[in-house]
Amino acid sequence: MFEPALLKDRVAIITGGGTGIGLAVARRLGTLGASIAIASRKAEHLERGSAALRESGIDALAAQVDVRNPEQVDELVERTVKHFGRIDILVNNAAGNFVCRAEELSPNGWNAVVGIVLHGSFYCARAIGRHMIARNEGGSIVSVLANYVWTGSPGTVHSASAKAGVMAMTQTLAVEWAPHRIRVNAVAPGPIESPGAAAQLWNSDDAVRRITKMVPLGRWGKPEEVADAVAFLVSPHAAFITGEILTVDGAAWLGRGTFGFLG
Ligand code: HXC
Ligand code: NAP
Repeated sequence: MFEPALLKDRVAIITGGGTGIGLAVARRLGTLGASIAIASRKAEHLERGSAALRESGIDALAAQVDVRNPEQVDELVERTVKHFGRIDILVNNAAGNFVCRAEELSPNGWNAVVGIVLHGSFYCARAIGRHMIARNEGGSIVSVLANYVWTGSPGTVHSASAKAGVMAMTQTLAVEWAPHRIRVNAVAPGPIESPGAAAQLWNSDDAVRRITKMVPLGRWGKPEEVADAVAFLVSPHAAFITGEILTVDGAAWLGRGTFGFLG
């Protein structure tokens, strides 16, 4: 589908790149020739992620970072530039989530999710955007949203609000940074097979069955299918695409109209 050396000489940072969708993105961009840095909080995720990447022939830089901490994000940028010489691609993939009704959500619960998703994505975009602007060779940023940016979704007021904020950030930065040839896009996945998400969000067979029924294509997506969408958006094939939100959900959100039950 993609030319083998499509991203040769590019350097990509993937937050949350040690697990799930982030790891699939790291593997996809790495196999297309990019140098990879993965960043997240937990050493065990980084170690297992790096080992999996090594098995695919990708030697990734792994950095322990909490994206809610802007100083740690700045250090990540410095370390990556020192190691690889430059940064061309940022994938804002790190997230936190759990299902909780709004009236039961504590301020700390709200802050944890909004802090990781909205603040963390901004801190990373800001730090790496500054580097890209200073280098003056362009760049590409992709954030991983969720298909409920289009609809909201019960049980996820923290996540849906934060992801919608990142969508607004994407559209805003696409225009602000277009003169610097920095493209800013996002993907909005529906239900994707991922152990991290399953542990937080759908830990019963009944929940999995109900969610599957809501997808017109009749199945869950695979992390690799999100990774392919990200790879397209960061590649030269998408050179004239910026400010776009690419939904990767088997038409799940479109199936929610009044007559969705007919589908
Ligand atoms: C209610 C909860 C809760 C739960 C945590 N909290 N889990 N409240 N229900 N299930 C509350 C805690 O009680 C606390 O509030 C506050 O949140 C912070 O909790 P901590 O554990 O101290 O936070 P922290 O260690 O920073 O961890 C962040 C986290 C955690 C978001 C809470 O779940 C995490 O690390 N998640 C990362 C992995 C993840 O979530 N992956 C899923 C992404 S999938 P109090 O008031 O008690 O102090 C995804 C898919 C979306 O986003 C789309 C699907 C279609
Ligand atoms: P996941 O494996 O739990 O991924 C979340 C990642 O974020 C983990 O690697 C985690 O690593 C990292 N992370 C969490 N808090 C962090 C912090 N404060 N600083 C740095 N890294 C942090 O789940 P996933 O399903 O692959 O999710 C990946 C992305 O896809 C998320 O943006 C999620 O919202 C989105 N998404 C997923 C689905 C789905 O169905 N799976 C659907 C729509 C959107 P550490 O724990 O090591 O920090």
